[in-house]
Amino acid sequence: MPDLKTKFMGIEIKNPIVVGACNLSKDKETLIHLEKAGAGAIVYKSLFEEQIQYERLQFEEKLHEFDERHAEMISIHPNVEHAGPKEHLAELKKAKKALSIPLIASLNAVYKETWVEYAKLIEETGVDGLELNFYTLPREAEQVNIVDNQVEMVRAVREAVSIPIAVKLGPFYSNPLNVMSKIDEAGANGFVLFNRFFHLDIDVDNEKITSPFNLSKEGDHKLPLKFTGLLYNKVKGSICSNTGIFTGKDMAKMILAGAECVQIVSAVYKYKAQHIEKMLKELEFWMNYRSYKSVDDFRGKLSDDAIKDPFAYARAQYVDILMNPENIIKEYTDI
Ligand SMILES: Cc1cc2nc3c(=O)[nH]c(=O)nc-3n(C[C@H](O)[C@H](O)[C@H](O)COP(=O)(O)O)c2cc1C
Repeated sequence: MPDLKTKFMGIEIKNPIVVGACNLSKDKETLIHLEKAGAGAIVYKSLFEEQIQYERLQFEEKLHEFDERHAEMISIHPNVEHAGPKEHLAELKKAKKALSIPLIASLNAVYKETWVEYAKLIEETGVDGLELNFYTLPREAEQVNIVDNQVEMVRAVREAVSIPIAVKLGPFYSNPLNVMSKIDEAGANGFVLFNRFFHLDIDVDNEKITSPFNLSKEGDHKLPLKFTGLLYNKVKGSICSNTGIFTGKDMAKMILAGAECVQIVSAVYKYKAQHIEKMLKELEFWMNYRSYKSVDDFRGKLSDDAIKDPFAYARAQYVDILMNPENIIKEYTDI
């Protein structure tokens, strides 16, 4: 039986499957169910700046000032439920006590003061680590210094707490590797690649903006796979790959590229908690077949750092496909 043990940000986990932050990862009974189904660790649903501000404004009886902003704020992330931060922290504490696997909290703040204040409050709940959920999609040309601000938040949170911190970020930077290396320098212990942004759509029949609830699809893991392979051994922090991971083989790919663990959400929504065991069995089967005794035996084996082919992760791949059309499967070239 191969050994599936791994670590994320120095936290020991019994296998590489971490259930990512979502609406399932906040109810105590569901968390226990996910643990029983075999999850190695769980990221608790994020606490959002909106919840914090909402409670503050309620307290100040200034709800009318908040109406417009709140409508806009909740539209950037679906299903923000308005449990206040006090309730969130209390539930987090109960969840930590109820689980024997590591529990990682998640925070999505906007203001520096909130990041620091709530990182400290979250640490007091006893959780094993904290994920900083960077969910920024600029909507105004004047919005600048996004990276500098994010790096500063990481530094400020790092100074404020002693639990391990991971940064979950999106891929939309001019150079994600440069951003990650700055975040690494600022003291992050891990990276979650990537955050999956929700996108709006337009219903042309009714000429309305809609917010469809789309889960990832099989095959959506290619972008995080590439950046996992590029990042491995280039930063001190560990890598947790996320987005579109549905099978044991998807997991094996991410580990070959350099991940210490993966996060899954859509797989659990689509195929329920028992899918975790299926994925673990598939990984074990693959490891047995390849004679790997532990995940450390093959971690990073196909990363950019490890392979001898300098072009595998580079532009040459793209040029090769365009310059050698015979490499394209014939069925797609017959029209
Ligand atoms: C219903 C739902 C709620 C989510 N809530 C959060 C959240 O609170 N915080 C967060 O960082 N990500 C949240 N996510 C994003 C997931 O953690 C994950 O990054 C994303 O779904 C990609 O992984 P997947 O392809 O396995 O679904 C949510 C996703 C879904 C579908």
